[in-house]
Amino acid sequence: MIPLFRPWVGKEEIDAVAKVINSGWLGMGPKTQEFEEKFAKYVGSDYAVAVNSGTAALDLAVKALGINSGEILVPSLTFASTAIVALYSNAKPVFVDVDTGTNCISLDDIKRKFNKNIKTVIPVHYGGHPCDMDEILAFAKSKGLPVIEDAAHASGSEYKGKKIGSIADITCFSFHPVKNLATGDGGMVTTNDEKIYNAVKKMRWFCINKSTFERAEVKSYSWYYEIDGLGYKYHMNDITAAIGLAQLKKLDKANELRKKISQRYMKEFAGLDWMKLPVEKSYVKSSWHMFVPKVKNRDGLVEHMSKNGVSAGVHYLPLHLQPLFANMIKRGEMKPANVPITDRIWKEIITLPVYPGMTKEDLDKIVDVVKGFKP
Ligand SMILES: Cc1ncc(COP(=O)(O)O)c(C=O)c1O
Repeated sequence: MIPLFRPWVGKEEIDAVAKVINSGWLGMGPKTQEFEEKFAKYVGSDYAVAVNSGTAALDLAVKALGINSGEILVPSLTFASTAIVALYSNAKPVFVDVDTGTNCISLDDIKRKFNKNIKTVIPVHYGGHPCDMDEILAFAKSKGLPVIEDAAHASGSEYKGKKIGSIADITCFSFHPVKNLATGDGGMVTTNDEKIYNAVKKMRWFCINKSTFERAEVKSYSWYYEIDGLGYKYHMNDITAAIGLAQLKKLDKANELRKKISQRYMKEFAGLDWMKLPVEKSYVKSSWHMFVPKVKNRDGLVEHMSKNGVSAGVHYLPLHLQPLFANMIKRGEMKPANVPITDRIWKEIITLPVYPGMTKEDLDKIVDVVKGFKP
C-alpha cells in the first residue's frame, strides 16, 4: 500500500540522536536552544520557543495573549487542535467558513462573524498554502485583534517573499510525524514580541524560573528554583531537538520534492473533467504539505484508490460535525456553525499522497490509478 505521508528521515537524524544520547543530556538543554535559534533565523522571527506539540504551541499562544473567556474565530475545516485550544482557555470557538479556491479561512466570513467578544483569530495555512495575511492583519488591526497563525502545515511556506513565522503576532508550528519537518512529536512558537516570547517560554515548563540545564551549568548543581505562575509540561527535549535540527537542514529540499510531485499531479490531472485542481496564489509559495483536489464521487475515488493499493485521505471532517462540537452547539453552549462553503466542499476534497521519499514507480502508479477512476 502506498502511504499518504512518510517522514523523510535517515542517517542524519540517527547520528544526531546518537550524539545526544552519548552526551548524557537527554532533556531540554543545548540542542533545544540551538534548534530554537536556528528555526527563528530560518523563518526570520526574533524569537522561537520549542514545545512538545503543535497543540501545545497553540495552547500557549492563546494563554500568552491572556485569553480566559470570550470567543475565538477559527475555521471549521481544520484539525481538532485549532478549535480545542479555545476550550482549554475557557473560550468558545466560533466557526468561520473557507475560500473555495485555497480552503483557507474566508476574510469576508471573519468580518461577518466578528463581534466584541472575539479575542483572537487563528487562520490555518491549509495544506501549506498561506492565508492572505495582509488582508487578515489589516482587518484584525482595525479591531485591535491579535492574530495567531496555525502554521502546522506551513514549515517553509512563504507569503509575499517572507517565510511563514514572522508575520502575525504569534505563529505555531507542528513537527508531528507527518509534517514537512517531522520530529516524532514537537512544535514551535515564533514571535517578534518580547512579552509574548517571555510568557510562552515561562509557561512551557511550569513557570519554573531556571531550567535544569541552567541550574546544572553553575559550578555545582543548584537545586533551588521558584514557581510563580501556572505553567505546563510542554517543553521540547534534546533528542527531539536534534532530529529537528537535522530536519531543518533538509526542509527546503524536502519541500522542493513535494512541489515536484504536486506539479506532476497538476500536469497529469489537468484534463480530468471530474477534478478541480488545487490553486497556488501568485503571492505565495506553498510547502505542499498536502495535495487536495476537489472531485466528483470523492468516496468512490477513495475506495478505488484503496482497492488499487494507494492510500487517500480527507482533511478534514469539519469540526462542527464532530460530536464534541456538534453536541455543544446542540446544547446551546456554542454558536451554530454557518459555514455553507465548508459544508459543500468537504464532501469533494481528497488528499493524495505527497512525501519527499516517493519513488518514481510509486508516483507513476498513483497517477495511473487516479486517471483510471470512472466517477
Ligand atoms: C492544522 C493543524 N493544527 C494543529 C495541529 C496540531 O499539531 P500536533 O499534532 O503537533 O499537536 C495539526 C496536526 O496535527 C494540524 O494539522
